[in-house]
Amino acid sequence: MEFPLPLRMSIEQKAQDTGTASLTKEAQDLSLRYRGESGHGKRLVTSDRQALAYAAVRMPATFGAVASALEHTLPLLARSPATLLDVGAGTGAACWAADALLDLESVVCLEREPYMAQLGQALMAGGPAALQNARWLSSDIAERGPLPRAQLVAASYVLGEMRPEERPAALSRLWDAAESLLLLVEPGTPEGFRQLKEARAFLLGQKAVLLAPCPHENACPLPPDDWCHFTCRVARSRLHRQLKGGEAPYEDEKFCYLAFSREKAPRAAARILRHPQIESGRITLRLCTPDRIGDLPVRKRDGSLFKAARKANCGDAFPSEI
Ligand SMILES: C[S@@+](CC[C@H](N)C(=O)[O-])C[C@H]1O[C@@H](n2cnc3c(N)ncnc32)[C@H](O)[C@@H]1O
Repeated sequence: MEFPLPLRMSIEQKAQDTGTASLTKEAQDLSLRYRGESGHGKRLVTSDRQALAYAAVRMPATFGAVASALEHTLPLLARSPATLLDVGAGTGAACWAADALLDLESVVCLEREPYMAQLGQALMAGGPAALQNARWLSSDIAERGPLPRAQLVAASYVLGEMRPEERPAALSRLWDAAESLLLLVEPGTPEGFRQLKEARAFLLGQKAVLLAPCPHENACPLPPDDWCHFTCRVARSRLHRQLKGGEAPYEDEKFCYLAFSREKAPRAAARILRHPQIESGRITLRLCTPDRIGDLPVRKRDGSLFKAARKANCGDAFPSEI
């Protein structure tokens, strides 16, 4: 899904006002901090320029990851959520993604860093009505007390910043706030996957219904040295290339996600775990199914299944088991 034009233009205008040379340095420092200091509950963005560097360099990718996760999840729901709570909202990427796919009536953003919240709010001022009217709350999800409830609760790229011992209580609070759907998105790294695997076990223990991407609630069948992740392709603007370097016109954001619902809903029969292998007259899909992970060769003679395989991408649901 395309990064919204008004959002891109607002970020570019603010970057121009600040000066791209100084933002490049902020972006480099930010990247180092995220690589070296995440996962310990540390404050990683503590100035307006750092928040702007985050929005310019990371927001297109986190927007893309949340939009992809929602695109895989929403078709499984009987009713689309109309209210959103975005926890650890940062500069609001998950809200923009949800707004692009849902008819939102109300949006609440919870964020503890004032500079992220200020920028998120300023960016939303030029966005659709639901985002212009978003309520921003300054709060820390590691602290006690209930969160405001919403039909969709999203926490994207947040759990990984918290201390491991804070995560179970935060997950409970997120789940208690979710009236219909809880979406967790993390980087598509072994560590991001490990954290979500822990969240999966914890939330299943709270009777949450796992909707996606897993086509079952059994133990994850992946071997210990593998991790389930998906990729979304994100167009790189001129500003993004200036700040991050490199000339490639796009980048591939790897992400992991989990979607839990309150109500049982029909899950996908299988989930495609790798890019389909295409040969003449045959497409081989690596599928996760309720029984196992394995390869399904689909041939031309399989008719409608072959047509489905031709359109299929990694991360999509697939209507057949192995
Ligand atoms: C990597 S950013 C992700 C922002 C946004 N969700 C996105 O996908 O682009 C993580 C955000 O979570 C916020 N955060 C981290 N720990 C938090 C906590 N304990 N309570 C509230 N917000 C938190 C950070 O301040 C930061 O804005």
